[in-house]
Amino acid sequence: MQPTERTPIWIMRQAGRYLPEYRAIREKHDFLTMCKTPDLASEVTVQPIDIIGTDAAILFSDILVIPEAMGMKLDVIESKGPVFEDPLRNTNDLERLHPEGVVDRLNYVMQAVRMTKQKLAASVPLIGFSGSPWTLAAYMVEGQGSKNFAVIKSFIYNEPEAAHRLLKTLADAVVEYLNAKIAAGCDAVQIFDTWASLLSPGDFEEFSLRYIRDICDRLETNGAPVIVFAKGVGSFERLTDLRCDALGIDWTRDLGRVRQEMDGRKALQGNLDPTILFAPKEKIRSEAARVIRSYGNGPGHIFNLGHGILPTTPVENVRYLVESVRELSSRRRDEAQAA
Ligand code: CP3
Repeated sequence: MQPTERTPIWIMRQAGRYLPEYRAIREKHDFLTMCKTPDLASEVTVQPIDIIGTDAAILFSDILVIPEAMGMKLDVIESKGPVFEDPLRNTNDLERLHPEGVVDRLNYVMQAVRMTKQKLAASVPLIGFSGSPWTLAAYMVEGQGSKNFAVIKSFIYNEPEAAHRLLKTLADAVVEYLNAKIAAGCDAVQIFDTWASLLSPGDFEEFSLRYIRDICDRLETNGAPVIVFAKGVGSFERLTDLRCDALGIDWTRDLGRVRQEMDGRKALQGNLDPTILFAPKEKIRSEAARVIRSYGNGPGHIFNLGHGILPTTPVENVRYLVESVRELSSRRRDEAQAA
């Protein structure tokens, strides 16, 4: 954890539909084509740096490119989100997956990383990412997003061996994939466990955290920081000894309290409620100030939202947030130094 002049900020899903410049490109190409065309992926990756001025870029892609590269047919439907035509429902279905050579088939991602690094010209760092095995498995078994995720939950309870086999296959792929992204030039990586929130503490340990732990242990980071975002976990205590540098925190938690629990062992990223960006400017500013204050003085805070930015968010408000975080955090640092 190193001191910075002010709190750095980036925004989950910052390359996306709230930007008219993104929508203009998206109108001409379907989502997967954009992911698979390094020129387009790198172009939308740098858009938010130029337009809203965040301090890091996150590579435009999707967590679901891994199952797609394992042979599952993926559609990203405008009103519905991602859909797998033929989800995995039992042990036999696992035979359909082709995990061997998966990272070779994801070479387009590594090309996008290299092209983005050129376009960024060292202005800001580039973050690469992957889904956690559990969150990937949830989509692969459900076939799409779901209200209660009853299909993946019954899968782990009725076919625990098959579930663990799938999770292990995914963990191996994630290690190789993130290592390749780092080797291609990513300056940091984030593991998204969006659906950690579905699991009780014991099940989270068994079906998600142990695989994240295994991934963190096996990453060849070359010094690139690793961020773990496990959304909605009840307690961060069990995440303290992960071999990662930072934890993403959603907006239901108090940053200062999590910081105390972590006792300086992890940097924290977060945690403004994404819907605050629909509020009047004064509210955006006071909530940004509250988040900065709740973390407190000293290094180790990366400002972000507590989850992805929503597609209907006004761009002007996002720009205002970035400016506010800059001003408020540098003023706070100056005051702390003067005191
Ligand atoms: O953060 C970024 O700007 C980088 C790009 C990024 C996307 N997806 C682009 C995207 C990242 C980091 C992701 C991660 C992702 N994808 C997660 C984990 C993070 C999270 O938000 O929970 C998950 C669960 C997915 C799966 C996924 N892909 C969903 C649920 C959706 C539909 C959601 C929606 O907003 O419609 C997608 C499609 C998707 N991924 C879009 C974008 C910009 C929208 C596609 C479009 O343009 O139509």
